[in-house]
Amino acid sequence: MKQVQFSNVLRALLAVGLTAGALAVQAQAVDVAAAEDLIKVNKCGKCHSVDKQKDGPSFQKTAAKYKGKADAEAKLFTHLTTAPTIEIDGAKEQHQKMKAKDDAAIKNAVKYILSR
Ligand code: HEC
Repeated sequence: MKQVQFSNVLRALLAVGLTAGALAVQAQAVDVAAAEDLIKVNKCGKCHSVDKQKDGPSFQKTAAKYKGKADAEAKLFTHLTTAPTIEIDGAKEQHQKMKAKDDAAIKNAVKYILSR
């Protein structure tokens, strides 16, 4: 009798653990629609596309450049929030800052770019 109750408790704990795990995975997933929307609203498409080189690198190229780098997200977050100096056709200018309601929205866009 005791044995049965113990295994029920174990099973319940396992179920809770699995649910928490699934939620954690969901929290990390990219919200593609939100990212594409933010990129559109910010008019990043003037210089970037997912797969074509424009004045700026394609998001696929950027994703390849940062593949396997642990600091990729931090680097791109800085890139999009601090207006670093860039060069377009030999002319120096400041990169556009991404405008968003909060940092989480920018981080989501960064994850989107890195997963192209
Ligand atoms: C006026 C053109 C222009 C606009 C607008 C622009 N970018 Fe860029 N972006 C560039 C150029 C040029 C580079 C390459 C800079 C370099 O490699 O020095 C770049 C680089 C990048 C990179 C790669 C950075 C890296 O470290 O490799 C990302 C990601 C990026 N831009 C995202 C965006 C997003 C998101 C927006 C909209 C908020 C945006 N850009 C708006 C021109 C632009």
